[in-house]
Amino acid sequence: MTQTDTTHTADGPVDLGALGEDFTRDPYPVYARLRSRGPVHRIRMPGGGEGWLVVGYEAGRAVLADPRLTKDWDKASPALGMTTVAAGRHMLSSDPPHHTRLRKLVAKEFTPRRVQALEPWVRRITDRLLDAMLAAPDGRADLVAALSFPLPMSVICELIGVPALDREEFAAASNTAVSSPDPAEQREAARTTSRFIGQLLADKQRNPGDDLLSALIRTSDEDGDRLTANELTGTVWLLLVAGFETTVNLISNGVLALLSHPDQLALLRAEPSLIDNAVEEILRYDGPVETPTYRFTTDAVDIAGTTVPGGGELVLVSLADADRDPARFPDPDRFDIRRDARGHVAFGHGIHYCLGAPLARLEARVAIGALLRRCPDLALDIHPAALTWRGGVLIRGPLHLPVRFSASAPARMG
Ligand code: HEM
Repeated sequence: MTQTDTTHTADGPVDLGALGEDFTRDPYPVYARLRSRGPVHRIRMPGGGEGWLVVGYEAGRAVLADPRLTKDWDKASPALGMTTVAAGRHMLSSDPPHHTRLRKLVAKEFTPRRVQALEPWVRRITDRLLDAMLAAPDGRADLVAALSFPLPMSVICELIGVPALDREEFAAASNTAVSSPDPAEQREAARTTSRFIGQLLADKQRNPGDDLLSALIRTSDEDGDRLTANELTGTVWLLLVAGFETTVNLISNGVLALLSHPDQLALLRAEPSLIDNAVEEILRYDGPVETPTYRFTTDAVDIAGTTVPGGGELVLVSLADADRDPARFPDPDRFDIRRDARGHVAFGHGIHYCLGAPLARLEARVAIGALLRRCPDLALDIHPAALTWRGGVLIRGPLHLPVRFSASAPARMG
């Protein structure tokens, strides 16, 4: 790697926003350099505000499950100048016992059975999207627009029961809320997503069905506990945003990794049963969540030997780096679909471990499997270095993924 080391200026914080496009495109060498100096670093966030970045597997995993840190935005230091972009209260902005209660109420309805029941539907949507993509007379497509984005969006809308949601507009607002470096723009986009959700809830209350949202509206546990209006809004926001902001990039990052590693692609084509393992390796090698949601200190805490002051300091974990730590994954920069990638933290760790992991895995397995089956000569239609990536450090994925394929690809085989 020949990048100049711009991560440290004297003893000042590492300014993530100033690291430029090289960092957005390939953040791994920067995180690795930081890791070589230690697990905890003072940083300046791309949108302003300072915090602490934790790199490496052991320290990162420990922070994800550290009960001394809070996820409650009300406890964030005002000096950070940050406000949450979420609509309503949800699991990822709550600590126990509130978190326990919310997670229990949602998990009761968002069950593995409900996810499993979606599989035939995920296959049908995937096939329909691929039919449209393969009909392109020039044999070219942007995979993000053709498959990676519309599949998770359709699936989450089907799961929640939102056929009429104006998907494009909601997605644009959600994208801005999650990834824009401009706090004012983020807040405006967050207001737009809240309006959408308000409308959606009102519609669903009038016309309930057997979807997840109707179930959440009427859900109650044994004690008669139920989600408040604010919690419902927050939960729907979280499911919608988590449902497609992440999975879209699991599909794109996965296809990109496979197309840029022809030996691994050939291996998967020869042994399709490796798909589950390949998805785990994609999650480890280039997962969609670069750094997960914010954690804040309450009292001063010792994190891997560094004292981080109390009073709402921001603590961020680089999942991207944890999963490339050679102390946990040998030869971590090698994409190897046969490796044992279990134990990766792409879905987080601890009480906030991703509730949608089974759904995300299902979608990736179906989408990547069907794509390879139906496009025997699929290839990148761009040099990987020329791709434009999502901004910010939360979500990692290319904005577009140009691919080409033979226009007369054979009909599907199942
Ligand atoms: C590849 C796709 C996905 C990835 C990489 C991913 C990643 C994550 C991560 C890292 C966390 C923990 C965040 C933290 O601790 O700060 C998380 C939490 C969560 N995810 Fe996902 N996610 C994905 C897909 C989904 C889907 C499809 C859904 C639902 C439809 C979902 C729903 C959630 C929820 C509800 C939580 C909060 C759990 C809690 O606080 O207890 N995710 N996800």
